[in-house]
Amino acid sequence: MRSHLILMLLFVVPVVAAADEPSKEDLEFYNKRVRPILEKNCYECHSQKADEVQSGLRVDERQAIIQGGDRGTAAEPGDGEGSLLISAVRWEDDDLQMPPEEKLSEKQIEILLEWIDREIPFPKPPEKEKKKDKKKKKKKGNGSYPLPFSSLQFDRP
Ligand code: HEC
Repeated sequence: MRSHLILMLLFVVPVVAAADEPSKEDLEFYNKRVRPILEKNCYECHSQKADEVQSGLRVDERQAIIQGGDRGTAAEPGDGEGSLLISAVRWEDDDLQMPPEEKLSEKQIEILLEWIDREIPFPKPPEKEKKKDKKKKKKKGNGSYPLPFSSLQFDRP
């Protein structure tokens, strides 16, 4: 019985950890295998570096991929097969073949598929989001009383 419990924990713990932050292996997979493909083949048109972001889609941020572009979400974490991104790089749809000039190799497509199936691991959110949070906290603490009278009475917009 006890060994069953330990076995269960072995499976449960990594899943819980993944919800917060990608594992070291997943991050390494992204940095070493996925990122070079995206950088070389997609950033030109789908990143902050692009002169003009094409179809509203950026692939240089996890949230941007999930949010997607004009056609909606580009990929749901864990669902590589069902994703628009994979359909696009497989040139499945005559109207959406990415990258437009030259199809990726089978191996590269497989890496992108595995990446989405691994829940789209990305390094931590960019710095600018953290800074915003700090500002907010500062503002809250600026009242002359620990709990400003107004905040007790009304919901401010
Ligand atoms: C030379 C520019 C260019 C490159 C490079 C490129 N794309 Fe695109 N991408 C486009 C354009 C233009 C569209 C809009 C096409 C349309 O709507 O007909 C698009 C649309 C898409 C869409 C659909 C977005 C939406 O919601 O409409 C996906 C997904 C996509 N690209 C993925 C990729 C991926 C992944 C790569 C790299 C492997 C890539 N693209 C490389 C120009 C590019």
